Amino acid sequence: MKLDRFEEVRRRHAAADAGGGTERKDRQHKEGKLSARERIDLLLDEGTFEELDKLVRHRCRDFGMDEQVIDGDGFVTGYGHVHGRLVYVFAQDFTVFGGSLSETNAQKICKIMDMALKNGAPVIGLNDSGGARIQEGVLSLGGYADIFLRNTIASGVVPQISAVMGPCAGGAVYSPAITDFIFMVDQTSYMFVTGPDVIKTVTHEDVTKEDLGGGMTHNSTSGVAHFLATDDAECLRNIRRLLSFLPQNNQDEAPRRATKDPIDRADAALDTIVPAESNIPYDIKDIIHRVVDDGDFMEVHEHYAKNIVVGFAHMDGRTIGIIANQPAYLAGCLDINCSVKGARFVRFCDAFNIPILTFEDVPGFLPGTEQEFGGIIRHGAKLLYAYAEATVPKITVITRKAYGGAYCVMGSKHLRTDINFAYPTAEIAVMGAEGAVNIIYRRDPDREQKIAEYKERFANPFVAAERGFVDDVIEPRQTRYKVIKAFRMLENKVDTMPRKKHGNIPL
Ligand code: HXC
Repeated sequence: MKLDRFEEVRRRHAAADAGGGTERKDRQHKEGKLSARERIDLLLDEGTFEELDKLVRHRCRDFGMDEQVIDGDGFVTGYGHVHGRLVYVFAQDFTVFGGSLSETNAQKICKIMDMALKNGAPVIGLNDSGGARIQEGVLSLGGYADIFLRNTIASGVVPQISAVMGPCAGGAVYSPAITDFIFMVDQTSYMFVTGPDVIKTVTHEDVTKEDLGGGMTHNSTSGVAHFLATDDAECLRNIRRLLSFLPQNNQDEAPRRATKDPIDRADAALDTIVPAESNIPYDIKDIIHRVVDDGDFMEVHEHYAKNIVVGFAHMDGRTIGIIANQPAYLAGCLDINCSVKGARFVRFCDAFNIPILTFEDVPGFLPGTEQEFGGIIRHGAKLLYAYAEATVPKITVITRKAYGGAYCVMGSKHLRTDINFAYPTAEIAVMGAEGAVNIIYRRDPDREQKIAEYKERFANPFVAAERGFVDDVIEPRQTRYKVIKAFRMLENKVDTMPRKKHGNIPL
């Protein structure tokens, strides 16, 4: 009897491992996709995965489902380590009923999400699914809603990461959408609320799956996804890399990374990156790479709203979040998309105790009816709100332009930024000299003279420094040392907000 049970355990485990069978697994490989278990193996440190609910079975008896029962029901859930730290993971196995979500699969996901919350560790979801299990109807829909609730409750408590590595359609997209970061794989993954066929029927538009909701579409056009990989293996490596920057939860500090990069490393090249002519573009990433530890910067949302650059780096071995205007794209203007991108990143950093370093070179908000009708007032306010509410250590370096409302928004002293530096090339004013003269000296014949006067008076960092709005004007070559010393000084910073249920960010 005892031996029979042992045999039964082995048989059931093997059935779960086999999933939908060799033929379906081969099809998965032929499409350039890995299986759910292969993905988990690549994601986690070797040999650390502990599977839970491997013997769970669906309870559906309709449409012949009682004849088709597979142990584990297709979803692989459990916990393991990434860089030696605990994570919870689920992976949808497309070979079992197309990775569709059954009532029991939803319960499996909810179980690990509840554990992640109690034990303070990230949750990673590897999505590859035809959506709600059609044979189960509302039971499956209820399961999705149970997951959405947990995604929301866990938001800001533990990092939540989604990889979309196959189909993710209909309401199913809303679980990844609530998580902190979405990774997609080029050509093999897609996300949409309604697919090409429905769109064709309703709006008569012709669009392919890839153009509608493929990896590049969501990385560059909609901004739904944050990272794009060429294949599954690269996607999983990128998730591991991202996790190396993050704390386990909102009570934790991100892990320190050892570095041989001297904290006082001066870099003469920084003195000449910002061009003397204020309308000549330069790449802000050249400054970022030269300032952070070992030049290692992990950009988030690389392909979207390129007029702002956001991402993670280390300084002095400590994780920091960087937000920077990009003069090489739309002159670094703030617009709707980049405001939302920046705001979301600032809020992630603030939620997870990650200090924020801002590089500012912003001529103002992008003018135009498209922006105004699209709600730049509401969306720009998100970035302002996010900076103002953030209580983590905040440092801003003005490299060149800090004009108008954009001066206030981009981590100004007035939004309780702790330390504000400016380069000698900084221009801090209500607007550029030409625009200012057009308004206040409209009828003055000596326009050129007035522009020169305005530039002389305001296109510099000194008026702000004299008021203390800028704490110091620094030589660019000193940026790294100055910033690290300031972050060290801020290491034990405590700042709070008044008690409230939550604020009302202009969504
Ligand atoms: C049950 C499903 C399924 C589903 C796929 N399968 N989707 N089984 N429920 N939702 C099964 C198929 O029957 C097939 O079984 C296997 O998975 C592979 O599917 P294929 O169609 O052969 O694969 P492919 O050609 O790659 O197409 C993939 C697909 C397509 C585009 C995802 O399967 C599809 O359109 N599925 C239905 C999608 C859908 O409408 N889902 C419901 C959305 S509504 P066999 O046995 O042949 O291998 C929704 C609501 C969520 O999700 C609401 C949350 C609030």
